[in-house]
Amino acid sequence: MATRHFLTLLDLSSDELAYLIQRAITIKNGLKTHGPTYTPFSNRTLAMIFEKSSTRTRVSFETAMAQFGGHALFLSPRDTQLGRGEPIGDTARVLSEMVDAVMIRTFSHDDLHAFATASEVPVINALTDDYHPCQLLADVMTWAERHGNIRGRTAVWIGDGNNMCHSWINAARQFDFNLRICCPEGYDPDSAITAAAGDRVTILRDPQAAVDGADLVTTDVWASMGQEEEQARRETDFKGFQVTEALLDRASNDAIFLHCLPAHRGEEISETLLDDPRAVVWQEAGNRLHAQKALLEFLLLGRIEH
Ligand code: CP
Ligand code: NVA
Repeated sequence: MATRHFLTLLDLSSDELAYLIQRAITIKNGLKTHGPTYTPFSNRTLAMIFEKSSTRTRVSFETAMAQFGGHALFLSPRDTQLGRGEPIGDTARVLSEMVDAVMIRTFSHDDLHAFATASEVPVINALTDDYHPCQLLADVMTWAERHGNIRGRTAVWIGDGNNMCHSWINAARQFDFNLRICCPEGYDPDSAITAAAGDRVTILRDPQAAVDGADLVTTDVWASMGQEEEQARRETDFKGFQVTEALLDRASNDAIFLHCLPAHRGEEISETLLDDPRAVVWQEAGNRLHAQKALLEFLLLGRIEH
């Protein structure tokens, strides 16, 4: 059977993604009830290549492997031959001889793709400049825990048309919900990614109108990793796009607020938004662990039918 990778949400079918969300909830409940006694990855190894910083992604993948009875290796380009120019394809082939799966956080999505093409073991996208699909597994899981199936609901993305926004667009396609995207002019998501989602996705300019009656509101930093020198200009351009408690009041009564974190209080969110009961960001962050356990299990062992 061909090796399965998880580079975007489109690499799995809608049915497989729905399975993963339910499986993640089952795994989470099992951990709560029995502790880390389910160890299907005895002696298995995940290589984790980080070319950008991380807190949640590193800790969740490393903890997932440890709790599953396996092992995770943290590889930074500073300390590996990747940083000295060893070709991506060569690195992928070497790692395929030794580890069971590879997780990569990098800049270029094309580089990630090149790595996966040469890899004989599953490759997981842990964030590129273009996508962050693992975060969306945790985000949809968080919705599911709160309110069940997200199908037909309305989510709103406020802010930059960035990697997270692109993954929200793919999620709208795969989980079949409506997504309103509200960005300042000049910061829209990639038009081909948006077009492929058809009428599930609409672009709006007014945050007040975008949030009206919505079920879920989400945002992200205005300057992503690699865009640090644009910070000042973006703070000006994104003025008026801050998510506040008052903005959330326009959403439906049981709406939730998500943020992949890290958050910049006083920029994309108000100073106090994360203290609002509608913000479920700590549950969302914790769900990275459970959702990625379900993903790793699926890529290495296939569906678990019990
Ligand atoms: N949300 C997320 O991916 O966080 P980290 O950058 O800390 O991994
Ligand atoms: N858009 C952000 C997400 C961080 C998890 C970034 O790429 O920096």
